[in-house]
Amino acid sequence: MAEAFAPFTFVHSNRRVVFGWDALDRLPELAKEGGAKRPAAVLDEYFTRMPVGARVAALLKAGTGAEPLVHATPAGEPDTASVEACAAALAAAAPDFIVALGGGSAMDTAKVARMLLSNPGPAEAIAGFGKRLAPHASMLVAVPTTHGTGSEVSESAVVGKDGLDAKLIYRSQEMTPQIALLDPALTAGAPRTVTAYAGYDAVTHAVEAYVSRMASPMTDPYALSAMELLGRWLAVAYEEPENRDARGACLIASMQAAIAFNSANLGLAHAISGPLGAQQHVAHGLGNALALPYVTAFNEPVLGAKGETIARLFGGRTAADAMAKLRRRLGLDLSLDGYVGTDADRERLAEWAMKSGQVKMNPRAATLEDMRAILAAMRTPTGDAAPAVRTGRA
Ligand SMILES: [Fe+2]
Repeated sequence: MAEAFAPFTFVHSNRRVVFGWDALDRLPELAKEGGAKRPAAVLDEYFTRMPVGARVAALLKAGTGAEPLVHATPAGEPDTASVEACAAALAAAAPDFIVALGGGSAMDTAKVARMLLSNPGPAEAIAGFGKRLAPHASMLVAVPTTHGTGSEVSESAVVGKDGLDAKLIYRSQEMTPQIALLDPALTAGAPRTVTAYAGYDAVTHAVEAYVSRMASPMTDPYALSAMELLGRWLAVAYEEPENRDARGACLIASMQAAIAFNSANLGLAHAISGPLGAQQHVAHGLGNALALPYVTAFNEPVLGAKGETIARLFGGRTAADAMAKLRRRLGLDLSLDGYVGTDADRERLAEWAMKSGQVKMNPRAATLEDMRAILAAMRTPTGDAAPAVRTGRA
């Protein structure tokens, strides 16, 4: 007889979640509580030119009495050079309270740069899974400005290798921000494409964590709540950017999805979106939107009751149909051919995707042949049809 509960490990190293509209204004109180004296902020370069940049600096000064260091991270995804530049700036300021505000790029930059303050570099030397990193004594507060990556509660970060189409994966409990400060007001001004990309990334985190081979009784409730909230509210946030309930729901959901995938890991959609980002510079959430409906169609024969739950929560005839419908509503029903134009590039993508550690987490075992079939199916936008993958096996 199968065991009712298979062995599992659940990790959640984030110390506190603070949520609320305009919760950013609580920064001074959080800094004072920790007795902070040397504040620093790591922001997406874009935000240093917006009112929120000056607001963060003023709030940090109010909480510590000191002028903060403000480090701007360049536009685009972080690489080892931008992370080391951030670490050098932080080292000079020796901060005891660091605010990372932005999308996944700014938060990931700050998470890795802060580890370089307490561990010998260069940035590449501390990459890898399960590294034992020395903790840094500062308090790290992560403030997401999109509802997508969940980097504010995850113990991982992704950084490009300077000048190369390759990604380094960082994973250590010491890297997790101590406080996730969730202020949905910060997400309301995001362009619609950002809402769609980031939101679909959160959907992919929730769905892949829910069906992962490492899903457990500790991760399923987070994944389920994330799917329920995203199924109800993501399209509303896309269609009505100022809707406060929708923004709050999506921000909570993206965090919950990350708490789930932090332990359950992900699957084939992330195995594909990783190299799509590194090789073809496809935005991460878009890469997931290209992949997830077809990955879900490939997985469908093994999903059982979980597949029915996904279909119900997102409103589709099947789980794959629900994923396709949602991406269509978000304007993301696109062909892979727009980004990967040749058979040779698609073959390279298939081979690279199969090297991802996420392949082993996928609920249905996949061969290189299966991956080729999924990528071939991704060439056709789904429209009203249910996505299908021809694998050549039953
Ligand atoms: Fe992701």
